[in-house]
Amino acid sequence: MRSAARHALLPSLLPANPGTFFFLRSQPGRFPPHAHGLRPCRAASSVPSGKYLPPLFSVAPMMDWTDNNYRTLARLISRHAWLYTEMVVAETIVHQKDSLDKFLAFPAEQHPIVLQIGGSNLDNLAKATELASGYSYDEINLNCGCPSGKVAGHGCFGARLMYDPEFVGDAMSAIAANCNVPVSVKCRIGVDDHDSYQELCEFVDTVVSKSPTRHFIIHARKALLNGLSPAENRKIPPLKYEYYYALLRDFPEVHFTLNGGLTSIDQVSASIRQGAHRVMVGRAAYNNPWNMLRHVDSEIYGVTTGCSSRRQILENYQVYGDSVIGQYGISRPNVRQLVKPLLHLFHSEPGNGLWKRKADSALRHCKTLAQFLEETLDAIPDSVLDAPISRETSMEEAYFAHVDSLMPPRYTKQAIGSYESPALVTAST
Ligand SMILES: Cc1cc2nc3c(=O)[nH]c(=O)nc-3n(C[C@H](O)[C@H](O)[C@H](O)COP(=O)(O)O)c2cc1C
Repeated sequence: MRSAARHALLPSLLPANPGTFFFLRSQPGRFPPHAHGLRPCRAASSVPSGKYLPPLFSVAPMMDWTDNNYRTLARLISRHAWLYTEMVVAETIVHQKDSLDKFLAFPAEQHPIVLQIGGSNLDNLAKATELASGYSYDEINLNCGCPSGKVAGHGCFGARLMYDPEFVGDAMSAIAANCNVPVSVKCRIGVDDHDSYQELCEFVDTVVSKSPTRHFIIHARKALLNGLSPAENRKIPPLKYEYYYALLRDFPEVHFTLNGGLTSIDQVSASIRQGAHRVMVGRAAYNNPWNMLRHVDSEIYGVTTGCSSRRQILENYQVYGDSVIGQYGISRPNVRQLVKPLLHLFHSEPGNGLWKRKADSALRHCKTLAQFLEETLDAIPDSVLDAPISRETSMEEAYFAHVDSLMPPRYTKQAIGSYESPALVTAST
């Protein structure tokens, strides 16, 4: 279904003024501590689930990358993309309950936002979810896809959980019982030699049968738990988009998000035209945020974007950044951490190399983001800073056309259509 058509089904969900930005514009030399209007979101009543446009497009959870700073930048570019936190391990939440803000607080403007948790202890997953529920996340997601040795090996969770669908069903039940928002699973299409389409379906089937989970994010490559690094596990096992599309065919009552290998908005649009319910992008949204995210509101959600140029984004981000410096103690966050997500904003543009060199030296002494931008930004031409959002012609219309011919045989184990669709799930869609 075309994105515009989807949008036409959802007029009542549109915010009154979807284009309005939430940050005040910066004023030279003035950085009042709370002028940005961003405060950690704690109150359970602050934003009810179901208020946002559906998660047609989301930015993937990425450890050390999708922190509050990156998510603020992403939100300034796209008002409607769903944002995922980095994975937070359940035990961290349980053992750090006196300093939870450090791990769980986020500016209210980051809604819609999903908390991803990791773990393999039912009690801790339940307790962690309960503790997190005061922060008003819009969905809780369980990581069943991380192949890192620390997580899947020593930690015995992440992708390793795909070996035990029954446990994942119990874990999702425990998570759902401790929150009042939808729950979801992010997984691979298989692990090691458990990589047949039948096994993937059995995993989904078991989790759906044992819990209220009706949303799976499918990273369309398997994970190899021995011998490949996490980075290799995101490159080497081949992408099998046909498994994702076969799941849509075989579990019509379940929502599936397609993830893995998408690098442009044209590919995202092509996947939706091919029938994808929802799409998640990771590395491309981090490494090239302007190109990946600037068309999301208009192209995927069919609404006017509130973002006009990178100059405007930087002005708004600077107000946010300077107000949170030192929020969690000396240097937490510091200017370097705040600049980190900005370093990809001018990917492949004139002046990018010079800007990065200037950034390198400015980071040695700048104490505020305003000072940093003042010292470095003259490296970027005005024509780039003020370039409006424009749309190039798509060359990737047929990107998913081949999947039909590769589809695996139908999954037949369980009667299709026998799952209930709980109200919890429809609330967010
Ligand atoms: C630096 C980095 C950290 C990641 N951390 C997580 C994580 O915490 N939880 C998770 O489920 N996936 C994590 N991933 C995987 C991504 O969410 C995503 O599934 C993967 O990158 C494939 O999507 P892409 O091809 O669009 O990047 C991480 C990926 C990267 C590059």
